Parts: sequence; structure tokens; C-alpha cells
Amino acid sequence: MELERLLRTQGFGSRSECRALISSGRVFIDGECCDDPYADFEPEGFAFVVDGVSWRYREHAYIALNKPANVECSHKPRFHPSVYTLLPRPLVTRGVQAVGRLDEDTTGLLLMSDDGQFIHKCTSPKKNVPKVYAVTTKHAIDDAQIDALLNGVLLNDDPAAIAAAACERISEHLLHLTVTEGKYHQVKRMVAAAGNRVEALHRVSIGNFTLPVTLKPGEWAWLTAEDLEGLATGNT
Ligand code: URA
Repeated sequence: MELERLLRTQGFGSRSECRALISSGRVFIDGECCDDPYADFEPEGFAFVVDGVSWRYREHAYIALNKPANVECSHKPRFHPSVYTLLPRPLVTRGVQAVGRLDEDTTGLLLMSDDGQFIHKCTSPKKNVPKVYAVTTKHAIDDAQIDALLNGVLLNDDPAAIAAAACERISEHLLHLTVTEGKYHQVKRMVAAAGNRVEALHRVSIGNFTLPVTLKPGEWAWLTAEDLEGLATGNT
């Protein structure tokens, strides 16, 4: 694939922007400047450097972000910066989207991708992908609340009760709650319906993929083939 086209697929801008980037000597391959937009390369495994930053060709982008609080999962945020400001520009340009949304005050694992099928697979209610949340509660958690969450609580937009797939009390005010749906404010509403209140919410895992402890709030990382496998096999 021609270098200009290759960079375009990776989010480095329009045809003319990529051509200008290359012609002005900002692209390096194997340590050497390549200023020929039409130089031909095999995309698979292709490594390149733009303005000192290393990249590898990826047909699709799959990333995990540790979402900090006070960041909105929207391209048009209302009160806080957008989560997309935490990503390098090429990822946004190539159309990476949040896989579902977290509330602005929710922290933790947010998957992002430009692969529509992957996004659909992770968010479709039919696929039942389990999501584990660490829930800090206002009031001490009692057995009746755990039972209610496991047996099902009524949310006002749904006539059928909705139950947690798993619910474990970690300490007096900390719960690990697993849900398979992705309804609006679902965890906060379920905990409220069970008679408590969410003070802080942190997503720990999706499928078999757990937020790496090395990923600090605001940081992102590429998902590996193994991570993607874990997400696929995490479906129930
Ligand atoms: N449930 C919520 O209430 N909020 C989130 O951000 C995610 C799940």
C-alpha cells in the first residue's frame, strides 16, 4: 500500500494532509526519513514514526482507557472535557468511539474502537457481556439489599425486574456488582431501588478483560489479540 494511503487509513488526515506530512520529512521508517508519498509498503506489521511517535499499522483500533471522573463520553460534552481529548488525534480521526458510555462521574474501564461489529458485539443486550462495577455506597450494605439486587429490582422505565448477574459485598460500603445490560444509569438506579445510594462507581472489567493496574486514570493502551480473545470468551 502506498505510504500516503497507509497513513490515511491510520487517521493521519486527508490524502493531501498525509502527502504533506510525508513530503515535509516528518515520517520515519526503520530509522530513515521517507519523504516519498508513493513508496509502497506491506501494511501487515508495518511500523512507522510520525513526529517522533511510534505507530504500527492496525486494520482496526481497539483500546482500553482508564476513564477519570469529570470527563464525558461524548463528542459534544456539556460540562466537562470529552473523553476523546484523552486520545491522540489520529485515533479520533480514524473514528474510534466509546463502546457504550460511562457517566461523567464514573471511573474505570472504557473500551474504544473503530470496529462497528466489535462495538455492537460488546454493547448488544442479546450478547450478555458481563460488566463488573466496584460500587461505593452511602449506607452500609445489608443482606436484604444484596438479595434484592440478585433477585431483581424494578426500574421505572421497565416493567420487568432487572437482576444483577452477581453481587458480592467486599466491605461495609463496597460492593462488586455484575450486570449484563447497559441501561441508562443502570447501576445507580439498581442500587437506589435496593434501598441504598451510589457514592462512587468504578468499572473493573468487561467480559474476561480487567482494567490493568498499570493503566493510570486518563491513560489508554492498545488491546492485544489475547485481550480481544478474553472479551469474546467473556460472553455468557
Ligand atoms: N451504571 C451507572 O449507573 N453508571 C455508569 O456510568 C455505568 C453503569
